[in-house]
Amino acid sequence: MQSIYRLLVVDDAKSQGSSLVDVDGNVFLDLFSHFALGCLGYNHPRLLAVARSDDFVRGSINPTSSPFCPATSWFQVLDGLSAYAPKGMTRIFCVDAGTEGIENALKAAFIVHGERRRTAAGLPKNPLELPLEEQDAILRNAGSDAVIVSFSGAFHGRTLGSLSCTHSKTIHKADIPAFQWPIAPFPANRFPLAHHVDENASREADALAALEKIFDEFGPRIAGVLIEPVQSEGGDRHASGAFFRGVQALCNKAGCAFILDEVQTGGGISGTMWTHEQFELEQSPDLVVFGKKLQMGGFFANDAYSIGQFGRMYQTRNGDRARAMLALETLKVIEEEGLLAHVREVGAYFLAGLEALAARYPSLLREPRGRGFMLALDLPTTAARDSFLKKALQRGVFATYTGNRSIRMRPHLILSRDDVDEALRTLDEVAREVSG
Ligand SMILES: Cc1ncc(COP(=O)(O)O)c(C=O)c1O
Repeated sequence: MQSIYRLLVVDDAKSQGSSLVDVDGNVFLDLFSHFALGCLGYNHPRLLAVARSDDFVRGSINPTSSPFCPATSWFQVLDGLSAYAPKGMTRIFCVDAGTEGIENALKAAFIVHGERRRTAAGLPKNPLELPLEEQDAILRNAGSDAVIVSFSGAFHGRTLGSLSCTHSKTIHKADIPAFQWPIAPFPANRFPLAHHVDENASREADALAALEKIFDEFGPRIAGVLIEPVQSEGGDRHASGAFFRGVQALCNKAGCAFILDEVQTGGGISGTMWTHEQFELEQSPDLVVFGKKLQMGGFFANDAYSIGQFGRMYQTRNGDRARAMLALETLKVIEEEGLLAHVREVGAYFLAGLEALAARYPSLLREPRGRGFMLALDLPTTAARDSFLKKALQRGVFATYTGNRSIRMRPHLILSRDDVDEALRTLDEVAREVSG
């Protein structure tokens, strides 16, 4: 599958907006955006201006250990970013990739959980005040039996902790030892959502009941529940706000962290800055992980999950200053150019077009679904999906794959209605050709 994409090398001097130009001069409508990394399109003038600024150059060439000895511009950029934090989040922790954001959010959950457990048992909250034999057990990897609950089909990254919570494809995990942490079923909802309301409600109720059983079984060992607002790599699987509220309620009851992985769903692609804003949660999540469109990885935390003790959460660099400047400018452009409303409006138009296509080719195109610009369709088999994507690419529309048989679209937030019309025309042509 991936080999078809390795043929494409980007000429990013020529690419502009949603148009990706390859080294051979072929022009593609980019519905791929490098697995949702891209946000404002190629060569956005505001990002070019930041990249040419003295601050950016200094941030790029003068490595600084931000947690220990930060440069002045680091405070400015962190203050700026905090204005875009999800509601209730008071802390930001920056690293490089999405998977590192997950690793560190899990660490924050484990640390708070460990401190609470010790306090409840009348032991010192500070691990450095524990008896020396217990500190020795910690050094010998025998310190904690805590677990994180994740969901079937989830993807949280490829480093070891994140991979233990990833269950989307065998190839990601084969031969790599994993923590034996519990896995709850993610509801296998059907689409279009409006056609399957009762059926989906019952799938979600079953999934919540299964999660509750895990809480019964693992009880106080559970430090947190990690979940994607839309399972992206696992096949673009959506669940309702009610489901997420149910998960959060179980976390609250158990007193563990409710951790949202917004690496792929954050940064405006769903039509709100953070997808969980659409779930009407009764309170803010405890930890929200970011990545991709924010140009770096990291997480936001509420007060309860802000880790103060020196040395517990620390990386030499803790965030790339230059990337953080680009992230901040990206978020400002999203706000100033009204891109969230644009994504909601054009995304709804795109989804309606995909639903019409699925109705026209019911045996080929199925389960159209989306939130904003996170859009997907299923084909009957992996081979049919791969061949469909290749034909669309040959006609100049670059969408990508997810799960076993889904087509995933992740356009840049600037995609226009005309672009959508072009995409739908091309998908229609391919569907007509394939249906013979
Ligand atoms: C939901 C989710 N979490 C985490 C990651 C890992 O991010 P990265 O590849 O930047 O490490 C990804 C990457 O696709 C993702 O989609």
